[in-house]
Amino acid sequence: MLEVQAINKSYKKKMVLKNVSLSIAKGEIVGLVGENGAGKSTLLQILATLMQPDAGEIYWDELSYRQHYQMIKQKVGFVPQDLAIWEHFSVEDNMRYFEQLSWKRMGIEACKKICEAMQLTHWKEPVSSLSGGMKRKLNLAISLIHQPELLLLDEPTVGIDMRSKQEIGRFLQQLASTQGTTIIYTSHDMNEIEQFTDRVLLIGRDRYYEELLSTKGIQVNCL
Ligand SMILES: Nc1ncnc2c1ncn2[C@@H]1O[C@H](COP(=O)(O)OP(=O)(O)OP(=O)(O)O)[C@@H](O)[C@H]1O
Ligand SMILES: [Mg+2]
Repeated sequence: MLEVQAINKSYKKKMVLKNVSLSIAKGEIVGLVGENGAGKSTLLQILATLMQPDAGEIYWDELSYRQHYQMIKQKVGFVPQDLAIWEHFSVEDNMRYFEQLSWKRMGIEACKKICEAMQLTHWKEPVSSLSGGMKRKLNLAISLIHQPELLLLDEPTVGIDMRSKQEIGRFLQQLASTQGTTIIYTSHDMNEIEQFTDRVLLIGRDRYYEELLSTKGIQVNCL
């Protein structure tokens, strides 16, 4: 279970996250929405241990982020919005490379299975020849090598076609239900959010989003 208690975060004098609290149960898929600049990426980076809040506490399964920083780091998977893959390597060589770097080794066959489960079947092809959707899937597959308990995805489906979106969404649902992975992801596509998340967190009081989500009958909490 993820528990965030009253965190604040400012960049110089600009306060981006103000008194943000939330809790998310194991195996839940939560959508994080809000307008550009609302602070979604900032919150995900804090939850991914890449940045520290100025105030407040965060717990994963009652372990404090402050006190068990290294242990928490190993339990978290983060998919940044920008692709972090080797363009000139094949899919297989990318997976081999990151599997060798990973603190938890799963073996190359298990890596291949993850890719297949997402319909990323171009195992031997160089990444540079893949479509944007396939590259996104590889970015996601790499984040799963150490089998994270908490998976944070920053716009994992931006700029990709409906079919790849569906494949990624279904894959995430399966991951949550079979492995109990807790997933938070951001997207500006409310249809996708409606289809694949259990509930939605909205950063900032934003009437436009609140109305849009309520017309879709989506449960939303404002942070
Ligand atoms: N490293 C930084 N230094 C200074 N300001 C920053 C930094 N990172 C983000 N900001 C500012 O903080 C605010 C929140 O940024 P953030 O990237 O978290 O928003 P976001 O909700 O992810 O936006 P988007 O939908 O555009 O991705 C923005 O005003 C941004 O300009
Ligand atoms: Mg962002």
